[in-house]
Amino acid sequence: MIPLVYDQINQWGKDDEFFLQLLKKVQPKNVADVGCGTGRFTIHLARAGYDVTAIDPNAEAIALAKEKEHAAEISWMIGDSATLPSEKFDAVIMTANVAQVFLTDKSWQQTLTDVYRSLKPGGHFLFDTRNPSAKTWEVWEQDQTLIGQ
Ligand SMILES: C[S@@+](CC[C@H](N)C(=O)[O-])C[C@H]1O[C@@H](n2cnc3c(N)ncnc32)[C@H](O)[C@@H]1O
Repeated sequence: MIPLVYDQINQWGKDDEFFLQLLKKVQPKNVADVGCGTGRFTIHLARAGYDVTAIDPNAEAIALAKEKEHAAEISWMIGDSATLPSEKFDAVIMTANVAQVFLTDKSWQQTLTDVYRSLKPGGHFLFDTRNPSAKTWEVWEQDQTLIGQ
C-alpha cells in the first residue's frame, strides 16, 4: 500500500458500514484495529465511542493516520499482531482484506494465536477476506489492461 494515495483510492464502502454494524452487535468497549493502515476505518471506531488501539507495521501510514480527526483519542502502535497486549480487547478487527497479507499457514496461525491471546475471554475477532472463487481480479481495471498486445 502507498499511504499517500491510499485513502483516495479506497473510499468508504458498504463493507466498512457492515463492520460498524457488526461491532454494534458485539458491543465492545476495547477494540484493536490490526493492519489499521492510514486509519481510514480506525477513526470511525473512535467516533463511535470505542476505546481504540490501532496497529500497523507501516510507519508512514501511522504518521498520516495521526493527523486525522479523532486521532488523539486512539492509541497508535507501529507493529503487527505480536505487538498486541494480552487479554485486553473485547474485539479485534482487521478490515479491507488485511487477512490477505498473510501468505503462509504459519504466518496466519501466528496471527490467530496473537489475536486470541489479546482478546478477553468471550471476545470477538472480525475480519474479511475475498472469495477466491469469484475471481474478481479478472475484471479489475479491465478497461486499462492491454491483453495480448
Ligand atoms: C489494504 S490495507 C488495509 C488498511 C485498513 N485496515 C483499512 O481498512 O483501510 C492493508 C494493511 O495491512 C498492513 N499489514 C501488512 N503486513 C501486516 C502484518 N503482518 N500485520 C498487520 N498488518 C499488516 C499494511 O501495512 C496495510 O496498512
